Amino acid sequence: MVYYVKNGKLPESRHTFEKKDELRREELVGEESFEGAYSLLYHLYEPTNSTGYRIVKLKEEKYADAPHVHRHLRTGMLKRDGNLINGRKTILMNSRVKVQVLIPENSTDDFYRNALHEILIFVHNGSGKFTCPMGSIKFSKGDYIYVPKGIAFRMEYTEDAYFLFLLSLDTLKIPPRYLNSYGQLKEGTPYYTRDIRPPEFFPPEKKSGKYVMHVEFDTYYVVQEFEKSPLDVEGWDGYLFPFAISTDAMAPIVGKLHMPPPIHETMSSKSMMVATFLPRKFDFHPRSIPISYYHNNVDVDEFLFYSSGNFMSRKGIQPGSVTLHVRGLTHGPQPGATENAIGKEGTDEVAVMIETYDPLLLTETGAGIDQEGYMKSWYA
Ligand SMILES: [Fe+2]
Repeated sequence: MVYYVKNGKLPESRHTFEKKDELRREELVGEESFEGAYSLLYHLYEPTNSTGYRIVKLKEEKYADAPHVHRHLRTGMLKRDGNLINGRKTILMNSRVKVQVLIPENSTDDFYRNALHEILIFVHNGSGKFTCPMGSIKFSKGDYIYVPKGIAFRMEYTEDAYFLFLLSLDTLKIPPRYLNSYGQLKEGTPYYTRDIRPPEFFPPEKKSGKYVMHVEFDTYYVVQEFEKSPLDVEGWDGYLFPFAISTDAMAPIVGKLHMPPPIHETMSSKSMMVATFLPRKFDFHPRSIPISYYHNNVDVDEFLFYSSGNFMSRKGIQPGSVTLHVRGLTHGPQPGATENAIGKEGTDEVAVMIETYDPLLLTETGAGIDQEGYMKSWYA
């Protein structure tokens, strides 16, 4: 839920019509049954009127037969493959969260909708356009795109496109502590309401053709075909819609002493917290140690996707690297990193962190890009 947006042509009151011979087909897209955030979409055509459907089983995503220890996964080793529908690779998962990487080889005009998961896409490389029935959002490197569950969309992108997909069974929200009682982002938060980019509305498509929508239910797709474009919305309003935020627009919070990850929180669900490490000045105590201390977070696993900049606390980390630091095993700076950090004034890093409350486990795909011996990288 963000704020109220209204676009295009709408009847004066909800659930009414203007002209009987020009009926619009009203669709409510909402969370928590009819109680949560929702939007009302006015289609030219009936959104249920598909010409057919088929079930396509998806390749099973298997957990690796591997212990739950610290890992370094090199997503850059994954080959360009497929597209939004068939190219996403799950590298880590649990019953509520999936971490996927999409390094697409091609694009498709087909629509994708996830029936179960909210999606937070991070654009690691490339640029393009996200399109859904509510409008389109131009994106570029360093953007997040939030997609509420149940929203159909497609993506066009440049040849160097490279995305991180975070999927959450539980609703992703702007942290409630960031919002005032009106739903406005408060002063002092890392981003402001103005930084949120809702879809830019475009007139409804009236042409006929063959339109395909792949609706994902984890282990299979329901593939629906339509003669009329799903982009047939004449107007919509409400509080539930996809949006983008640029990490360039975000303002990191810094302090006299080292700030823990929750200070960099971006969005969260009941099953995970997403935080963003941004280019920032380091702590200003004259004897501050500007990188993290050793920590043993007993209730979370800690995932980091390194996007750009100089990652000074870890050796061997490249853009596209993922580290997983698990509960129960202390982690922190590698030998020499603390000494090297002292006196440094800032960082240019951009990294996406998630903390999951259930263990985040390696998949077979993740095991294929795992750096052997990462656990020993702390040995002097
Ligand atoms: Fe950590």
